[in-house]
Amino acid sequence: LVDDRIAGISSAIRVIPDFPKPGIMFQDITTLLLDPVAFKNTIDLFVERYKDKDISVVAGVEARGFIFGPPIALAIGAKFVPMRKPNKLPGAVISEEYSLEYGTDKIEMHVGAVQEGERALVIDDLIATGGTLCAAINLLERVGVKVVECACVIELPDLKGRERLGDKPLFVLVS
Ligand code: PRP
Repeated sequence: LVDDRIAGISSAIRVIPDFPKPGIMFQDITTLLLDPVAFKNTIDLFVERYKDKDISVVAGVEARGFIFGPPIALAIGAKFVPMRKPNKLPGAVISEEYSLEYGTDKIEMHVGAVQEGERALVIDDLIATGGTLCAAINLLERVGVKVVECACVIELPDLKGRERLGDKPLFVLVS
């Protein structure tokens, strides 16, 4: 049952208070990775949702999108494209800046990694304010890729990231 799998995934995620700063309840997915059944169920739930959606690109956001993205990409027969923090990718890049509570951050993608007209899924471990996923969507759409959906293991609904995504569909396992 889907609900049993979700419950197992939810209980495998560890919450660490006051990390990295006082007042933040850090959602730690490393404990999910230690549980092979819960980890496999996580990947399976995404694969079941995306396998027949004609998706040719799974774009994963650094760092934890690099953990969940590749097994999904392999299972659905798509390429995996890393969206990296600035100055990590060695080739020519396009980049997209996004705002944080204080200041800005940036993600980058290799030029030529995707082709105009491809259909993409964007994956990350968690959506908080939605700034990161918005930047990933913008990067892909700037080069003519259709972002079919964004997917995360965890959503923090209080931070209203879903609203920031506008009409772009967001699928999450645990809220
Ligand atoms: C976390 C998380 C998402 C992002 C979500 O990454 O893994 O990528 O924040 O936040 P947002 O919805 O407010 O944009 P983090 O900034 O901790 O970077 P890391 O994965 O490299 O540790």
